[in-house]
Amino acid sequence: MEQVEEEAVNMKETIISVKHLVKVYKMGDLEVHALRGISMDVHKSDFVAIMGKSGSGKSTFMNIVGCLDIPTKGEYLLDGVDVGKMNKDQLANLRNKKIGFVFQSFNLLSRTSALENVELPLMYNSKISSKDMKERSIRALESVGLASRAHHFPSQLSGGEQQRVAIARALVNDPVVILADEPTGNLDTRTSVEVMSIFQQLNTKGITVIIVTHEPDIAAYTNRNISFRDGRIQKDLIVEKPRNAAAELLTMPVFKEEETI
Ligand SMILES: Nc1ncnc2c1ncn2[C@@H]1O[C@H](COP(=O)(O)OP(=O)(O)OP(=O)(O)O)[C@@H](O)[C@H]1O
Ligand SMILES: [Mg+2]
Repeated sequence: MEQVEEEAVNMKETIISVKHLVKVYKMGDLEVHALRGISMDVHKSDFVAIMGKSGSGKSTFMNIVGCLDIPTKGEYLLDGVDVGKMNKDQLANLRNKKIGFVFQSFNLLSRTSALENVELPLMYNSKISSKDMKERSIRALESVGLASRAHHFPSQLSGGEQQRVAIARALVNDPVVILADEPTGNLDTRTSVEVMSIFQQLNTKGITVIIVTHEPDIAAYTNRNISFRDGRIQKDLIVEKPRNAAAELLTMPVFKEEETI
């Protein structure tokens, strides 16, 4: 009983806390106000979809949360660590340890096998032996159902499989949060649901997931939808009954019904 209560408290653990985030891009005399004061807490159990029109600040927000960029003003705590007080090396280190990135265009190295692509983030860690590196990467590939494709090159994989390799690469360092900017943007319907099913599984295992999407159908698989408008939060809604991607896959035809690429 005690353990159950403890777990319930842990699931409420705040992983990301931002307060009054402002980002102004200066282009000569012109100032672009990309973020005009974003405040939110993201909890461990959250699977968030960030939505909003083009130019509303979604990618700017993700870049700051991913420690790839710094805000003009505001506070950011990642897993209890004050990111605002860090120098460039500390930021890179924190990024590598705590965050996994997934991109719309997969960003895999084309002349490198799936396994080697997944190993890449571990290369920055001199303490890991090559044997450990391989074992961890195979485990990450297994967790996205792709262990049998470890020695394939990206060109020998479907779009969905390439995105799953990219998710394995994001997972290999045991991140606390996965950030994905339009991860299903280049995928057909069934493959998008496959990717959402993997994110749902990871989220259930305790990894916080934040995606950007333009599609309400995709946001319906997450458990919290946040809409941006002109650099501000317009809506922040709990999804009471998220769609279940794994269950839907069982009833979807395996062959593509439509070509969306
Ligand atoms: N590096 C930059 N320099 C100058 N302005 C930028 C830069 N990056 C983004 N902007 C501007 O900041 C605003 C927010 O851009 P952002 O890329 O965050 O939007 P977005 O919501 O991700 O849009 P999309 O849906 O098209 O990807 C836009 O007006 C954009 O032109
Ligand atoms: Mg964007």
